[in-house]
Amino acid sequence: MSNDQLAEHLRFARELGVAGVSRDPAWRERAGDRSVHPQADRPDGPITIPLTQVDALAAVRADIGDCTRCKLHTLGRTQVVFGVGNPNADLMFVGEAPGGEEDIQGIPFVGRAGQLLTKIIEAIEMKREDVYIANVIKCRPPQNRNPESDEVETCEPFLFRQIDVIQPKVIVALGKFGAQTLLRTLEPISRLRGRIFEYRGAKLIPTFHPAYLLRNPSSKREVWDDMKLVRKLLTES
Ligand code: URA
Repeated sequence: MSNDQLAEHLRFARELGVAGVSRDPAWRERAGDRSVHPQADRPDGPITIPLTQVDALAAVRADIGDCTRCKLHTLGRTQVVFGVGNPNADLMFVGEAPGGEEDIQGIPFVGRAGQLLTKIIEAIEMKREDVYIANVIKCRPPQNRNPESDEVETCEPFLFRQIDVIQPKVIVALGKFGAQTLLRTLEPISRLRGRIFEYRGAKLIPTFHPAYLLRNPSSKREVWDDMKLVRKLLTES
């Protein structure tokens, strides 16, 4: 391929939304199956053009659209609450479903429980912007009732896609729904926490939900233990 042809090819890729090109083998490995290999037969290896995590997350968000897949769109939700934070985060938090404030702002964990989550993140010397935060369910259930199984089933594939794009090293599952959905178990959170699970290439740590901590402040001690474990796993890997 001549230089002119290569330049034209790269212009075309950019128009398709490809944001970067790298010959670095480490980058190639991380990009995995989300890459295209336009020159796989090159003697010095393929040029890999990874879609960035930003593009890939934007594609997931676009697929959700103004979702009407489950009944929650008829039950008073204002908007879809997708996820927030660093698309390349090593640490991801997964909660249950947006509450009232999240439904208004379109951002997960911005109400009282969210403010406590921010403090928990800061307790391990990280900033909220360093991590990625999402929920199993993207729409607020009426009166903040528990998500129903058909709603979880409909919505969870989008969470799985978010996780697969971000590829965090550690996932903290907040409360019963986050933990039970990801781990496909009905074990209570009290039995799940304190353990490390392998999950889609990440270490998954279940812990109590910040809303539970607001009602049961004495359980902050266990959450602190869990967060110390998170910090250790992040520095080890
Ligand atoms: N509780 C959750 O599980 N998620 C939010 O976004 C807010 C409160």
